[in-house]
Amino acid sequence: MKRTKTLVAPSLLAANPLRFEEDLLHAESLGIDMHHVDVMDGHFVPNLTYGLPLVKALKSVSKVPLDVHIMVSNPDAVALDYVAAGADILVFHVEAALHSHRLLQAIKDKGAKAGLAINPGTPVSALEALLPFVDMINVMSVNPGFGGQSFIAQTPQRVQAISKLLRDMGREEEVFLQVDGGINDLTAPLVREAGANVLVAGTYFYGAKDKVQALASLRG
Ligand code: DX5
Ligand code: ZN
Repeated sequence: MKRTKTLVAPSLLAANPLRFEEDLLHAESLGIDMHHVDVMDGHFVPNLTYGLPLVKALKSVSKVPLDVHIMVSNPDAVALDYVAAGADILVFHVEAALHSHRLLQAIKDKGAKAGLAINPGTPVSALEALLPFVDMINVMSVNPGFGGQSFIAQTPQRVQAISKLLRDMGREEEVFLQVDGGINDLTAPLVREAGANVLVAGTYFYGAKDKVQALASLRG
């Protein structure tokens, strides 16, 4: 069931690294809702991307919130540094954190929104005890590490299960339910129907010739 307006978060991973500022500002001019920034440490995931200096630089030019997704082995140690660098929403992995509950609270205490990401192979039940404390859930629809991968078909049923848990605790309207990986015009309707209200799109958005049309098809 569709809940609220669908927000779109293009992933910087698919923008041109030689002209991030230009690409981001162009995306903003088309009406995107936030920038999704994938921080990878080469350890929790096999790929290595960028870190604090880039988040700081992006923050200095961006007029929409930065949704920073840290795919790192040590989120307890580094998450607050990303908040200080300018993350408006800080999303870390439930598989990586030692003290997820404590970290969610610490992020919120610093004035940012706190999110939890869950990998495709992790049971939804790993999130349950933490749902009362999150501002966002990121349901990974690919294994994290790379852009341009294929959407995992079992994702909508996982989104639906999390959506139901949020609904049952009366948090459906206040928690962002985000899906990340392989989102395009064909997969977006599947996750919107399942209850997602924030869609990350890297390859599909930044690779589109007609970005206005791409954005419209993601919003549905
Ligand atoms: C994958 C990242 C995603 C990625 C999505 O590890 O978390 O945010 O950029 O890229 P696409 O939309 O190309 O699958
Ligand atoms: Zn991501």
